[in-house]
Amino acid sequence: MTQTRPEARTQPARGERNGRPTKRQYVRFAFYKVDPLWRRLPVDEQADTKRDLLKTIESFNRRMLLRPYSLMGTRADAEILLWQIAESVEPFQELAAAIAATPMGAYLNLSVSLLSQTKRSIYEIRDNPDEAVERLIISPSEAKYLFVYPFVKTRPWYKLSLEERQVMMDEHIRVGRKYPAVKLNTTYSFGLDDQEFVVAFETDEPADFLDLVQELRETEASLYTLRDTPLYSCIRMGLAESLDALGGPKIAQPQTQVAEKSEAWVEVCPVEEFGDSERKVVYLNGQQIAVFNVDGKFYAISNRCSHARGPLSEGAVDAESCTVTCPWHYGRFDLKTGQTVDGVVSAPVKAYTVEIRDNMVYAGIKSNE
Ligand code: FES
Repeated sequence: MTQTRPEARTQPARGERNGRPTKRQYVRFAFYKVDPLWRRLPVDEQADTKRDLLKTIESFNRRMLLRPYSLMGTRADAEILLWQIAESVEPFQELAAAIAATPMGAYLNLSVSLLSQTKRSIYEIRDNPDEAVERLIISPSEAKYLFVYPFVKTRPWYKLSLEERQVMMDEHIRVGRKYPAVKLNTTYSFGLDDQEFVVAFETDEPADFLDLVQELRETEASLYTLRDTPLYSCIRMGLAESLDALGGPKIAQPQTQVAEKSEAWVEVCPVEEFGDSERKVVYLNGQQIAVFNVDGKFYAISNRCSHARGPLSEGAVDAESCTVTCPWHYGRFDLKTGQTVDGVVSAPVKAYTVEIRDNMVYAGIKSNE
């Protein structure tokens, strides 16, 4: 079957894959610590302020990927991390302002904020060349722990030739491969924030991470590290659970209730704001969903291609066959079902239900799906 090629793009490329543009993502790690005065409020007020904050933060799920973590018991200077991933920097500013405007915001100190962007690595990853490009997209795993730190190299590192640095990076990558249970997310901060990189490791095995960091100290590249602290050890949990870990009455629902409530929806936008042939990306349960308007009919599928996580929202849509072609290797998917149609793809992507309610487009999962 003939493959549909992506349409020409007018926006400037900020990342490239085989000459094809791919957008970078913005990333922010915001660490908060609650003022002890909040713990002296009447319990009803503690519960109300937590619920209000929960609602405010959750209202941003449509605009960014938001991952909450607790640092209670792991750090003295931070108690909650909100790991934020978005397509532009503005949602971070708006979320920070919205949090500050809540009653609990008056008791929340922003201990540290690390801003960065995804970027293709300049080094070759010889055993997986696609990895350099895949790093353009942050796709958090289900791992229980996250270890985050700002990272700065010494200036002599940048005086070395690319070949010399590549040799050292090869050694660095070789050591990393010995710890497959540890997933690395490297993002870039040059000119955006004080550090040069923000490094975030996900794992279910903190002992593996400890061993990896210790072994990396013995590599040659380590000689060129200027700063790699403070290190934040974070425990993944739901937002309500993270707020409950701060103290006060519990607001998180018992797990049994959560399991029964498997239905989940996210607002996309009012119908009149969704132009024909337009695509929008929203976030639900930590996953990116691409929503398409094809001749006035709406479809929603996972935004990440099942082949190598290419962004399907940037693919070419064929209205007649109701399919989208991934911009990375041209795998094609049915927009109604998420099933593969042709190309290199062999696994389907998740299809979501779209509903229009009161003129608002919603994408989501029905309880029987
Ligand atoms: S990422 Fe390879 S076809 Fe989509």
